[in-house]
Amino acid sequence: MRRKLIAGNWKMYGDRAHLAELDAIAEAARANPGIDVLVCPPSVLIAPALARQPGLAIGAQNCHDAPEGPYTGSVSAAMLRECGATHVIVGHSERRAAQHETDAKVRAKSKSAIAAGMVALVCVGETEAERRAGEAEDIVTGQIFGSVTKYAQPDTVIVSYEPVWAIGSGLTPSIEEVRSMHATIRAALCSKLGEAIGSAIRILYGGSVSAANASELLAIENVDGALVGRASLTAAQFVPIIEAAAAI
Ligand code: PGA
Repeated sequence: MRRKLIAGNWKMYGDRAHLAELDAIAEAARANPGIDVLVCPPSVLIAPALARQPGLAIGAQNCHDAPEGPYTGSVSAAMLRECGATHVIVGHSERRAAQHETDAKVRAKSKSAIAAGMVALVCVGETEAERRAGEAEDIVTGQIFGSVTKYAQPDTVIVSYEPVWAIGSGLTPSIEEVRSMHATIRAALCSKLGEAIGSAIRILYGGSVSAANASELLAIENVDGALVGRASLTAAQFVPIIEAAAAI
């Protein structure tokens, strides 16, 4: 009952010419109506992306937590929504680390995204040191309790488990580690939000997802899709991941 979502995070890569990649991605989305496809380009490319492929779901990579204000350089969720973005990634580890975003800040951003009529894609994940210390599941459970708003609904919040050490490294956790962590996240969501809501919220896996490992990762229980960084930058690498999800 949880539809699979394949989401691409372009990070700070791409320009207008790069939007040509969206043609084959949109085609793959149309050809596989049983799953959801989302692309999150840099915010200045949201409107041009939609101009090129109006039928494709386009998201943002961050928003401010306030609706408006004297925050030079920032963009609110409502502004992104007005550009056509339907989703916004919040709490990506690159922002938690470099911009010192706390769980409380991530939660505030998701609330503002929901208030603007968007879906918040909330990222959680442990560092390599935390996993080595045997603390991964406790850390991630804490992030779920701290980062996911109590107002979350299955159509307003999606969680993405992204072990920090797996992002951009070519490394992925073992199948058993992913299975165990996604079960832990499911339990935390049910405990925080109640069984009905907690069991319907989608939990994506992110971190070095590729055409080569997508089928294996997407078949794991409680893995409801993928958040893909590098391999989302070209249709040649992203489309096979969409097809892998559709084949499950
Ligand atoms: P990656 O990035 O697929 O390049 O590892 C994933 C992410 O940061 O969302």
